[in-house]
Amino acid sequence: MRVINLGPDPSLTYRPDIKPLADKDQSEYRNFEGTELFDRVFNTYKLMHTHQTLDFVKRKHVEWSGCTHAKMTMMEAIDSLDKLVDESDPDVDFPNSFHAFQTAEGIRAQHPDKDWFQLVGLIHDVGKSMALWGEPQWAVVGDTFPVGCKFQDSIVFRDTTFKENPDNTDSVLSTECGIYKPKCGLENVLMSWGHDEYLYQVMKFNKCTIPEEGLYMIRFHSFYPWHCGNSYMHLCDDKDVAMLPWVKEFNKFDLYTKSEELPDVENLRPYYQSLIDKYCPGVLQW
Ligand SMILES: [Fe+2]
Ligand SMILES: [Fe+2]
Repeated sequence: MRVINLGPDPSLTYRPDIKPLADKDQSEYRNFEGTELFDRVFNTYKLMHTHQTLDFVKRKHVEWSGCTHAKMTMMEAIDSLDKLVDESDPDVDFPNSFHAFQTAEGIRAQHPDKDWFQLVGLIHDVGKSMALWGEPQWAVVGDTFPVGCKFQDSIVFRDTTFKENPDNTDSVLSTECGIYKPKCGLENVLMSWGHDEYLYQVMKFNKCTIPEEGLYMIRFHSFYPWHCGNSYMHLCDDKDVAMLPWVKEFNKFDLYTKSEELPDVENLRPYYQSLIDKYCPGVLQW
């Protein structure tokens, strides 16, 4: 079977029959072609790759980046994800917040000195709260990719899912650089809309003090065509290249800490609350 890259999103990848790292080779982790889940995931990407255009992304920035949708603390946002029922995954049988704590604890075990990194593990998927406020799944979850330039071959399902996207045949937007200049920096590139970019915007809006490396992890952890596929390097500047190893380091924990051994969330709360209080305290605007 072909191994497909579906991004770090647990809602798209977790299955009780997929064993944790200790039991399975990493390459087998996300291999579920031929299953009912595969079809559902494919349909989510089909919708995403049809409707995520440059124009759509610009509209989403206007809609969400002003952070006018809710006021809540970071811990409340993490807990709110447990209400999220992912239409693409009927098999998830534990709360979404467990993935947050598992990722954070995996990072803590190997990077005990980097509390901001641990916090990034905890909060990285919190932007999925958009789905609770009506945003369709295909604009919240899954791998991301730049819009405004050619959709590269490294994007999952690239061959089959972009045919109805008008940007795919646009004379400018389908060129290698599209509307961008070579090495313009990812900061100047518009990504397909999803929970990465949204949480990054929330962090900036609320003046959270997570270091630059952590903000990169938040903003680009679903950009698999880049951190896994090595494409879009022609748009990267020196800063992006310097940050890439951090995004890759984060990805190890996002993907491979999933386990049937669930964390004792209530015992862990006080420690992670102290990190929230340090880097993104109080009531935040979403
Ligand atoms: Fe995740
Ligand atoms: Fe994610």
